[in-house]
Amino acid sequence: MTIEREAAQPPVWQNDTPEGQAPVREGQDWSSWPTYDSAVLGLRDYWYPVGWAEQFGRKPQTVRLLGEDIALVREGDEIYALHDRCPHRGVPLSLGRRQFPDTVSCPYHGWTFELKTGNLCAVLTDGPDSPICGKLKVRTYPVAQRLGLVWIYVGAGPVPPVERDIPDELLEHDFVMGGRSDIRNGNWRFAAENGFDEGHAKYLHNTALWRLFKVMPAWNKTRIQQEGPWLVRVQEELHWEAEYPGLGVWTNKRWWKRMPLPDRPGKGSRVNPVIDSLNIPGFVSIRLPGLLRVAYPQFIHYEWYVPVDEDHVRYVQIMARFERGLTAAAFKLKYLAGIRWLFHGQFTGQDAWMVDVSDAPPERLYRPDVSITTWRRLVERSKPVVQTRPLRAKDES
Ligand code: FES
Repeated sequence: MTIEREAAQPPVWQNDTPEGQAPVREGQDWSSWPTYDSAVLGLRDYWYPVGWAEQFGRKPQTVRLLGEDIALVREGDEIYALHDRCPHRGVPLSLGRRQFPDTVSCPYHGWTFELKTGNLCAVLTDGPDSPICGKLKVRTYPVAQRLGLVWIYVGAGPVPPVERDIPDELLEHDFVMGGRSDIRNGNWRFAAENGFDEGHAKYLHNTALWRLFKVMPAWNKTRIQQEGPWLVRVQEELHWEAEYPGLGVWTNKRWWKRMPLPDRPGKGSRVNPVIDSLNIPGFVSIRLPGLLRVAYPQFIHYEWYVPVDEDHVRYVQIMARFERGLTAAAFKLKYLAGIRWLFHGQFTGQDAWMVDVSDAPPERLYRPDVSITTWRRLVERSKPVVQTRPLRAKDES
Protein backbone atom coordinates (compact mmCIF):
# COMPACT_ATOMS: atom_id res chain seq x y z
CA MET A 1 0.00 0.00 0.00
CA THR A 2 1.67 3.22 -1.11
CA ILE A 3 -0.96 5.86 -0.61
CA GLU A 4 1.28 7.65 1.86
CA ARG A 5 3.97 8.11 -0.78
CA GLU A 6 1.40 9.41 -3.21
CA ALA A 7 0.29 12.09 -0.79
CA ALA A 8 3.69 13.78 -1.19
CA GLN A 9 3.05 14.39 -4.89
CA PRO A 10 1.51 17.58 -6.29
CA PRO A 11 -2.14 17.20 -5.33
CA VAL A 12 -3.94 19.01 -8.15
CA TRP A 13 -4.17 18.41 -11.88
CA GLN A 14 -6.22 20.52 -14.27
CA ASN A 15 -7.39 20.04 -17.82
CA ASP A 16 -6.79 23.57 -18.97
CA THR A 17 -3.26 24.32 -17.83
CA PRO A 18 -0.22 22.68 -19.36
CA GLU A 19 2.23 22.20 -16.48
CA GLY A 20 2.51 20.35 -13.20
CA GLN A 21 -0.26 17.85 -13.86
CA ALA A 22 -0.96 14.63 -15.68
CA PRO A 23 -1.60 16.49 -18.94
CA VAL A 24 -3.03 15.05 -22.08
CA ARG A 25 -0.16 15.22 -24.57
CA GLU A 26 0.03 14.65 -28.28
CA GLY A 27 1.52 11.27 -29.10
CA GLN A 28 1.05 9.97 -25.57
CA ASP A 29 0.22 6.28 -25.47
CA TRP A 30 0.07 3.48 -22.92
CA SER A 31 3.87 3.16 -22.92
CA SER A 32 3.80 6.34 -20.82
CA TRP A 33 2.38 4.18 -18.03
CA PRO A 34 4.31 0.87 -18.28
CA THR A 35 3.09 -0.51 -14.95
CA TYR A 36 -0.50 0.31 -15.79
CA ASP A 37 -0.05 -1.05 -19.28
CA SER A 38 1.16 -4.37 -17.87
CA ALA A 39 -1.61 -4.64 -15.25
CA VAL A 40 -4.00 -6.43 -17.54
CA LEU A 41 -4.79 -9.01 -14.81
CA GLY A 42 -4.98 -6.46 -12.01
CA LEU A 43 -3.00 -5.46 -8.93
CA ARG A 44 -1.92 -7.78 -6.13
CA ASP A 45 -1.85 -7.02 -2.39
CA TYR A 46 -5.43 -5.78 -2.19
CA TRP A 47 -8.72 -7.12 -0.89
CA TYR A 48 -11.40 -7.59 -3.55
CA PRO A 49 -15.15 -8.22 -3.19
CA VAL A 50 -16.19 -11.33 -5.13
CA GLY A 51 -19.88 -11.74 -4.32
CA TRP A 52 -22.56 -11.67 -1.64
CA ALA A 53 -21.89 -13.78 1.42
CA GLU A 54 -25.35 -15.32 1.28
CA GLN A 55 -24.56 -16.80 -2.14
CA PHE A 56 -21.87 -19.10 -0.80
CA GLY A 57 -22.86 -22.30 0.99
CA ARG A 58 -21.40 -25.70 1.91
CA LYS A 59 -21.28 -26.69 -1.73
CA PRO A 60 -18.04 -25.40 -3.25
CA GLN A 61 -18.29 -22.64 -5.84
CA THR A 62 -15.64 -21.18 -8.08
CA VAL A 63 -14.77 -17.55 -8.69
CA ARG A 64 -12.05 -16.17 -10.93
CA LEU A 65 -10.05 -13.27 -9.51
CA LEU A 66 -6.99 -11.68 -11.11
CA GLY A 67 -6.93 -14.67 -13.45
CA GLU A 68 -6.74 -17.15 -10.55
CA ASP A 69 -9.49 -19.73 -10.08
CA ILE A 70 -10.55 -19.93 -6.46
CA ALA A 71 -12.92 -22.40 -4.78
CA LEU A 72 -15.10 -20.89 -2.03
CA VAL A 73 -16.61 -23.17 0.61
CA ARG A 74 -18.69 -22.28 3.64
CA GLU A 75 -18.39 -24.10 6.97
CA GLY A 76 -20.76 -22.58 9.48
CA ASP A 77 -20.23 -18.83 9.58
CA GLU A 78 -16.81 -19.04 7.96
CA ILE A 79 -16.05 -19.00 4.27
CA TYR A 80 -12.77 -20.49 3.04
CA ALA A 81 -10.94 -19.97 -0.23
CA LEU A 82 -8.61 -22.48 -1.88
CA HIS A 83 -6.87 -22.55 -5.23
CA ASP A 84 -9.40 -24.28 -7.43
CA ARG A 85 -7.10 -26.98 -8.71
CA CYS A 86 -6.37 -30.39 -7.27
CA PRO A 87 -2.60 -30.93 -7.39
CA HIS A 88 -3.10 -34.60 -8.34
CA ARG A 89 -4.44 -34.22 -11.88
CA GLY A 90 -5.68 -30.66 -12.04
CA VAL A 91 -9.40 -31.20 -11.49
CA PRO A 92 -11.26 -28.19 -10.00
CA LEU A 93 -11.87 -28.61 -6.29
CA SER A 94 -15.04 -26.57 -6.75
CA LEU A 95 -16.49 -29.75 -8.26
CA GLY A 96 -15.63 -31.62 -5.08
CA ARG A 97 -17.76 -33.11 -2.32
CA ARG A 98 -17.97 -32.49 1.41
CA GLN A 99 -17.20 -35.87 3.00
CA PHE A 100 -15.98 -34.59 6.39
CA PRO A 101 -16.42 -31.34 8.32
CA ASP A 102 -13.89 -28.64 7.55
CA THR A 103 -12.64 -30.42 4.43
CA VAL A 104 -13.35 -30.71 0.73
CA SER A 105 -12.66 -33.86 -1.30
CA CYS A 106 -11.70 -33.77 -4.96
CA PRO A 107 -14.38 -35.50 -7.09
CA TYR A 108 -11.87 -37.59 -9.07
CA HIS A 109 -9.86 -39.74 -6.62
CA GLY A 110 -10.97 -38.33 -3.30
CA TRP A 111 -7.90 -36.36 -2.27
CA THR A 112 -9.17 -34.48 0.76
CA PHE A 113 -7.96 -31.03 1.83
CA GLU A 114 -8.43 -29.05 5.03
CA LEU A 115 -10.38 -25.88 4.27
CA LYS A 116 -8.42 -23.73 6.69
CA THR A 117 -4.88 -24.74 5.75
CA GLY A 118 -5.20 -26.43 2.36
CA ASN A 119 -3.23 -29.39 3.73
CA LEU A 120 -3.80 -32.78 2.12
CA CYS A 121 -5.20 -34.64 5.13
CA ALA A 122 -6.58 -37.83 3.55
CA VAL A 123 -6.57 -39.72 0.26
CA LEU A 124 -9.79 -41.73 0.27
CA THR A 125 -8.72 -44.11 -2.50
CA ASP A 126 -5.30 -44.90 -0.99
CA GLY A 127 -6.20 -45.86 2.56
CA PRO A 128 -5.63 -44.18 5.93
CA ASP A 129 -1.87 -44.75 5.70
CA SER A 130 -1.44 -43.04 2.32
CA PRO A 131 2.16 -41.83 2.37
CA ILE A 132 1.42 -38.69 0.41
CA CYS A 133 -0.78 -37.26 3.17
CA GLY A 134 0.72 -34.22 4.84
CA LYS A 135 3.25 -33.76 2.07
CA LEU A 136 1.45 -31.17 0.00
CA LYS A 137 -1.21 -28.55 0.16
CA VAL A 138 -3.24 -26.28 -2.05
CA ARG A 139 -2.87 -22.59 -1.67
CA THR A 140 -5.41 -20.83 0.52
CA TYR A 141 -6.46 -17.19 0.39
CA PRO A 142 -7.42 -14.85 3.23
CA VAL A 143 -11.19 -14.30 3.29
CA ALA A 144 -13.26 -11.66 5.06
CA GLN A 145 -16.96 -10.81 5.19
CA ARG A 146 -17.91 -7.13 5.34
CA LEU A 147 -20.86 -5.13 3.96
CA GLY A 148 -22.58 -8.43 3.20
CA LEU A 149 -19.82 -9.18 0.67
CA VAL A 150 -17.12 -11.82 0.59
CA TRP A 151 -13.64 -10.32 0.19
CA ILE A 152 -10.54 -12.19 -0.91
CA TYR A 153 -6.98 -10.96 -0.53
CA VAL A 154 -4.60 -11.73 -3.36
CA GLY A 155 -1.02 -11.03 -2.40
CA ALA A 156 2.04 -12.02 -0.45
CA GLY A 157 3.49 -11.05 2.89
CA PRO A 158 1.58 -9.68 5.87
CA VAL A 159 -2.14 -9.46 5.19
CA PRO A 160 -3.62 -6.04 5.98
CA PRO A 161 -7.07 -5.81 7.56
CA VAL A 162 -9.87 -5.75 5.01
CA GLU A 163 -10.92 -2.38 6.44
CA ARG A 164 -7.90 -0.81 4.74
CA ASP A 165 -9.62 -1.30 1.39
CA ILE A 166 -13.10 -0.17 2.43
CA PRO A 167 -14.05 3.54 2.55
CA ASP A 168 -13.95 4.89 6.10
CA GLU A 169 -17.49 6.23 5.95
CA LEU A 170 -18.82 2.70 5.43
CA LEU A 171 -17.02 1.55 8.57
CA GLU A 172 -17.79 4.49 10.83
CA HIS A 173 -21.47 5.21 10.19
CA ASP A 174 -24.76 3.36 10.11
CA PHE A 175 -26.25 3.01 6.65
CA VAL A 176 -28.65 0.97 4.59
CA MET A 177 -27.61 -0.25 1.19
CA GLY A 178 -28.71 -2.00 -1.96
CA GLY A 179 -26.38 -3.53 -4.48
CA ARG A 180 -25.68 -5.87 -7.33
CA SER A 181 -22.68 -7.76 -8.59
CA ASP A 182 -22.26 -8.80 -12.23
CA ILE A 183 -19.46 -10.07 -14.40
CA ARG A 184 -19.21 -7.84 -17.44
CA ASN A 185 -17.18 -7.92 -20.62
CA GLY A 186 -14.00 -5.87 -20.86
CA ASN A 187 -10.77 -5.34 -18.99
CA TRP A 188 -10.95 -3.87 -15.47
CA ARG A 189 -8.85 -0.85 -16.51
CA PHE A 190 -11.40 0.20 -19.12
CA ALA A 191 -14.12 -0.10 -16.48
CA ALA A 192 -12.13 2.06 -14.03
CA GLU A 193 -11.35 4.63 -16.70
CA ASN A 194 -14.98 4.75 -17.74
CA GLY A 195 -16.01 5.34 -14.14
CA PHE A 196 -13.66 8.27 -13.59
CA ASP A 197 -13.93 9.59 -17.16
CA GLU A 198 -14.92 13.25 -17.02
CA GLY A 199 -16.43 13.53 -20.46
CA HIS A 200 -18.84 10.71 -21.10
CA ALA A 201 -21.65 10.98 -18.55
CA LYS A 202 -23.17 14.15 -19.91
CA TYR A 203 -23.41 12.66 -23.39
CA LEU A 204 -23.65 8.85 -23.12
CA HIS A 205 -26.07 8.96 -20.20
CA ASN A 206 -28.30 11.77 -21.43
CA THR A 207 -30.61 9.03 -22.69
CA ALA A 208 -30.59 7.12 -19.38
CA LEU A 209 -33.93 6.83 -17.60
CA TRP A 210 -32.11 7.61 -14.33
CA ARG A 211 -31.51 11.13 -15.69
CA LEU A 212 -34.87 11.49 -17.43
CA PHE A 213 -35.97 14.41 -15.27
CA LYS A 214 -32.62 15.96 -14.39
CA VAL A 215 -30.47 18.17 -16.59
CA MET A 216 -26.82 17.34 -17.02
CA PRO A 217 -24.20 19.91 -18.04
CA ALA A 218 -23.12 20.21 -21.65
CA TRP A 219 -19.44 20.58 -20.77
CA ASN A 220 -17.21 21.31 -17.78
CA LYS A 221 -13.84 22.56 -16.80
CA THR A 222 -12.39 20.12 -14.33
CA ARG A 223 -9.37 19.65 -12.15
CA ILE A 224 -8.30 16.50 -10.37
CA GLN A 225 -7.46 16.84 -6.70
CA GLN A 226 -6.03 14.27 -4.33
CA GLU A 227 -7.79 13.77 -1.00
CA GLY A 228 -6.11 11.01 1.01
CA PRO A 229 -6.33 7.83 -1.08
CA TRP A 230 -8.88 9.37 -3.44
CA LEU A 231 -8.51 11.29 -6.67
CA VAL A 232 -11.48 13.64 -6.90
CA ARG A 233 -12.92 15.28 -10.00
CA VAL A 234 -13.56 18.88 -9.06
CA GLN A 235 -15.80 20.94 -11.34
CA GLU A 236 -14.40 24.44 -11.76
CA GLU A 237 -16.95 25.47 -14.38
CA LEU A 238 -20.23 23.93 -15.44
CA HIS A 239 -21.72 24.97 -18.77
CA TRP A 240 -25.30 24.00 -19.43
CA GLU A 241 -25.32 24.90 -23.12
CA ALA A 242 -22.90 26.13 -25.75
CA GLU A 243 -22.91 27.53 -29.26
CA TYR A 244 -20.72 25.48 -31.60
CA PRO A 245 -19.49 27.67 -34.48
CA GLY A 246 -21.25 26.89 -37.71
CA LEU A 247 -23.38 24.20 -36.07
CA GLY A 248 -25.63 25.75 -33.46
CA VAL A 249 -26.47 25.26 -29.81
CA TRP A 250 -26.06 21.98 -27.96
CA THR A 251 -27.52 21.42 -24.53
CA ASN A 252 -28.97 18.70 -22.32
CA LYS A 253 -31.74 21.03 -21.18
CA ARG A 254 -35.30 19.93 -21.94
CA TRP A 255 -38.53 21.51 -20.78
CA TRP A 256 -39.40 18.51 -18.60
CA LYS A 257 -36.02 18.32 -16.85
CA ARG A 258 -35.16 20.18 -13.69
CA MET A 259 -31.77 21.55 -12.76
CA PRO A 260 -29.90 19.39 -10.21
CA LEU A 261 -28.66 20.41 -6.81
CA PRO A 262 -25.19 21.98 -6.80
CA ASP A 263 -22.60 19.48 -7.90
CA ARG A 264 -20.42 19.59 -4.85
CA PRO A 265 -21.69 17.37 -2.05
CA GLY A 266 -22.26 19.40 1.05
CA LYS A 267 -23.35 22.50 -0.83
CA GLY A 268 -26.90 21.52 -1.64
CA SER A 269 -29.89 22.53 0.40
CA ARG A 270 -30.76 18.94 1.42
CA VAL A 271 -27.54 17.15 2.12
CA ASN A 272 -27.26 14.11 4.34
CA PRO A 273 -25.21 15.08 7.43
CA VAL A 274 -22.77 12.18 7.04
CA ILE A 275 -22.11 13.02 3.40
CA ASP A 276 -21.83 16.69 4.34
CA SER A 277 -19.23 15.84 6.98
CA LEU A 278 -17.05 14.05 4.43
CA ASN A 279 -16.42 17.39 2.74
CA ILE A 280 -15.70 15.78 -0.60
CA PRO A 281 -14.73 18.53 -3.05
CA GLY A 282 -16.27 16.87 -6.10
CA PHE A 283 -18.96 14.54 -7.32
CA VAL A 284 -16.79 11.58 -8.40
CA SER A 285 -13.70 10.02 -6.77
CA ILE A 286 -11.53 6.98 -7.47
CA ARG A 287 -8.91 5.08 -5.48
CA LEU A 288 -6.79 1.99 -5.72
CA PRO A 289 -7.20 -0.80 -6.59
CA GLY A 290 -10.21 0.35 -8.63
CA LEU A 291 -13.03 1.74 -6.50
CA LEU A 292 -15.27 4.58 -7.64
CA ARG A 293 -17.33 6.77 -5.32
CA VAL A 294 -20.13 8.98 -6.63
CA ALA A 295 -21.44 11.23 -3.86
CA TYR A 296 -24.98 12.48 -4.30
CA PRO A 297 -26.54 14.78 -1.70
CA GLN A 298 -28.62 11.97 -0.14
CA PHE A 299 -26.65 8.79 -0.87
CA ILE A 300 -23.34 7.52 -2.20
CA HIS A 301 -22.89 5.07 -5.03
CA TYR A 302 -19.76 2.89 -5.00
CA GLU A 303 -18.51 0.59 -7.70
CA TRP A 304 -15.59 -1.83 -7.53
CA TYR A 305 -13.90 -2.94 -10.74
CA VAL A 306 -12.65 -6.37 -9.75
CA PRO A 307 -10.36 -8.01 -12.31
CA VAL A 308 -11.63 -11.42 -13.35
CA ASP A 309 -9.31 -12.08 -16.28
CA GLU A 310 -8.02 -10.18 -19.29
CA ASP A 311 -11.45 -9.75 -20.81
CA HIS A 312 -13.87 -9.69 -17.89
CA VAL A 313 -14.47 -7.53 -14.85
CA ARG A 314 -16.63 -8.15 -11.80
CA TYR A 315 -18.69 -5.02 -11.40
CA VAL A 316 -19.77 -4.69 -7.76
CA GLN A 317 -22.14 -1.78 -7.14
CA ILE A 318 -23.63 -0.62 -3.89
CA MET A 319 -25.73 2.41 -3.05
CA ALA A 320 -25.49 3.49 0.58
CA ARG A 321 -27.84 5.81 2.42
CA PHE A 322 -26.65 6.93 5.82
CA GLU A 323 -29.95 6.69 7.64
CA ARG A 324 -31.68 4.51 10.18
CA GLY A 325 -35.29 3.63 10.96
CA LEU A 326 -38.14 4.46 8.63
CA THR A 327 -36.05 6.55 6.24
CA ALA A 328 -33.68 3.63 5.81
CA ALA A 329 -36.53 1.18 5.25
CA ALA A 330 -38.12 3.51 2.70
CA PHE A 331 -34.83 3.77 0.84
CA LYS A 332 -34.45 0.00 0.75
CA LEU A 333 -37.92 -0.32 -0.77
CA LYS A 334 -37.19 2.41 -3.27
CA TYR A 335 -33.96 0.69 -4.22
CA LEU A 336 -35.62 -2.65 -4.84
CA ALA A 337 -38.58 -1.09 -6.64
CA GLY A 338 -36.67 1.12 -9.04
CA ILE A 339 -33.12 2.24 -8.34
CA ARG A 340 -31.70 -1.24 -8.74
CA TRP A 341 -33.02 -1.40 -12.27
CA LEU A 342 -32.77 2.27 -13.24
CA PHE A 343 -29.30 3.03 -11.91
CA HIS A 344 -27.52 -0.23 -11.21
CA GLY A 345 -29.06 -1.74 -14.32
CA GLN A 346 -29.91 0.51 -17.27
CA PHE A 347 -27.67 3.47 -16.39
CA THR A 348 -24.49 1.53 -15.62
CA GLY A 349 -25.44 -0.89 -18.40
CA GLN A 350 -24.61 1.96 -20.78
CA ASP A 351 -21.15 2.06 -19.19
CA ALA A 352 -20.81 -1.71 -19.60
CA TRP A 353 -21.67 -1.33 -23.28
CA MET A 354 -18.88 1.21 -23.81
CA VAL A 355 -16.34 -0.80 -21.77
CA ASP A 356 -17.16 -3.83 -23.91
CA VAL A 357 -16.65 -2.04 -27.23
CA SER A 358 -13.70 0.23 -26.30
CA ASP A 359 -10.56 -0.79 -28.18
CA ALA A 360 -7.46 1.10 -27.01
CA PRO A 361 -4.61 1.65 -27.51
CA PRO A 362 -4.15 3.33 -29.91
CA GLU A 363 -6.07 6.33 -28.66
CA ARG A 364 -6.14 10.13 -29.09
CA LEU A 365 -7.07 11.76 -25.82
CA TYR A 366 -8.76 15.15 -25.33
CA ARG A 367 -8.80 17.70 -22.50
CA PRO A 368 -11.37 16.03 -20.22
CA ASP A 369 -9.24 12.87 -20.33
CA VAL A 370 -7.03 14.47 -17.68
CA SER A 371 -9.21 12.34 -15.40
CA ILE A 372 -7.99 9.18 -17.11
CA THR A 373 -4.33 10.19 -17.34
CA THR A 374 -4.25 11.23 -13.68
CA TRP A 375 -5.75 7.90 -12.63
CA ARG A 376 -3.12 6.08 -14.67
CA ARG A 377 -0.45 8.22 -13.04
CA LEU A 378 -1.78 7.33 -9.60
CA VAL A 379 -1.42 3.65 -10.39
CA GLU A 380 2.04 4.20 -11.83
CA ARG A 381 3.34 6.20 -8.87
CA SER A 382 1.93 3.78 -6.35
CA LYS A 383 4.30 1.12 -7.70
CA PRO A 384 1.80 -1.70 -7.23
CA VAL A 385 2.62 -5.38 -7.59
CA VAL A 386 1.15 -6.35 -10.92
CA GLN A 387 -0.51 -9.73 -11.36
CA THR A 388 1.48 -11.31 -14.14
CA ARG A 389 0.02 -14.77 -14.62
CA PRO A 390 -2.51 -17.15 -13.16
CA LEU A 391 -1.40 -19.44 -10.35
CA ARG A 392 -0.24 -22.84 -11.67
CA ALA A 393 0.38 -26.18 -10.06
CA LYS A 394 4.06 -25.56 -9.47
CA ASP A 395 3.09 -22.79 -7.06
CA GLU A 396 1.69 -25.40 -4.71
CA SER A 397 4.00 -26.77 -2.05
FE1 FES B 1 -8.01 -34.74 -7.63
FE2 FES B 1 -7.20 -37.06 -8.58
S1 FES B 1 -7.44 -35.19 -9.64
S2 FES B 1 -7.88 -36.60 -6.60
